[in-house]
Amino acid sequence: MNMHSSIEQILSSYDDQAPLSQASTIPAPWYTDPRIAELERLSVFGRTWQLVARTDQLRDPGEFVTTRLAGEPIVVVCGSDGQLRAFYNVCRHHAAAVVTQSCGQISILQCPYHGWKYGLDGSLKGMPEFEGVQNFDRGDNGLVPIRVEAWECFVFVNLDPDAVPLGEFLGGLVKRVAPLGVSQLHYFDRRTYEIHCNWKVFIDNYLDGGYHVPHLHKGLSSVLDYKAYTIENEDRYCLQSSPMVASDEDAATGATRKGDRAWYFWQYPNLMINCYEGYMDTNYVVPVDADHCSVIFDFYFSDVSDARRDYNTQSVNVGNRVQDEDLGICEDVQRGLKSSAYGAGRLSVRREAGEQLFHRLLAADLKGTPAPVMAVVR
Ligand code: FES
Ligand SMILES: [Fe+2]
Repeated sequence: MNMHSSIEQILSSYDDQAPLSQASTIPAPWYTDPRIAELERLSVFGRTWQLVARTDQLRDPGEFVTTRLAGEPIVVVCGSDGQLRAFYNVCRHHAAAVVTQSCGQISILQCPYHGWKYGLDGSLKGMPEFEGVQNFDRGDNGLVPIRVEAWECFVFVNLDPDAVPLGEFLGGLVKRVAPLGVSQLHYFDRRTYEIHCNWKVFIDNYLDGGYHVPHLHKGLSSVLDYKAYTIENEDRYCLQSSPMVASDEDAATGATRKGDRAWYFWQYPNLMINCYEGYMDTNYVVPVDADHCSVIFDFYFSDVSDARRDYNTQSVNVGNRVQDEDLGICEDVQRGLKSSAYGAGRLSVRREAGEQLFHRLLAADLKGTPAPVMAVVR
């Protein structure tokens, strides 16, 4: 397998039918070949539900968030009727970005280039100096809409007009997250990491069932009952969970990671939701190119009053330290994946079922075959 292999050869070199005890990871070229990255842009990021905003950013009429997804500029707006709407953020005149700020509140969407105006519902409202233009129907020249739906405190869009509804896509995740009350938490802060690795290396690292925790995260390891760590696959999500144990080994971790259990959810393809008592962080992985990704961490707490600011900041810093430990190893792995010595690796049956689910779902999307049917595996 090398750069002269065809994309079909690279895709067919992964066996998505093998049982876990016989399975390997997806092959190294899937992490390094720009043709795979482009195929993922179209077949994965262009067709799955993607987290783009929080509901608290889009609560009042005119509130908006802009972002990019799979190379596409996007704007999500709360309408005068309180409805969420999303559009390609591309002016129908000469393709300028209509909304140029990352978030805010507006009453009309006005393109900065030649001043065309669009309503919050995307309809074209006005075009300066356009008298005498023939065969131009204003009704056909609104902003192009995109599917948008909310779940809990999260807003998702999907570039595929034929995609299944968000609830169906999330499947069993919805009922598993519901009891945790994440929508009662309040957003506190964001950290963004630029990592020199393929986006899937970061996901794999997350999905190894705690395999790396005792070795790489000594502080975190002290509050988890590693032997009782569970891994459950269903639909397009994996839940890793561990009972918590009291620890004074690492004061900062012990003070900020509390409760009976730690809940680590991964939802295909690139969203992770981590919960402790009174705490949630989300990790959203954005591919940049075959060798680079960004990871956006959003931190939420039950109490974000000024009195809790120092505590919450300490908690974010604990997350930051764990992240730094992961970051170094992910960059190392990316270098290893490019080595002529490596092709693919085997999976621990006890720990790495989540990784196999990820690789199977990805293979189905890239090969254009139906998603594997996942019964709950406990
Ligand atoms: S490009 Fe938007 S008004 Fe011309
Ligand atoms: Fe880690």
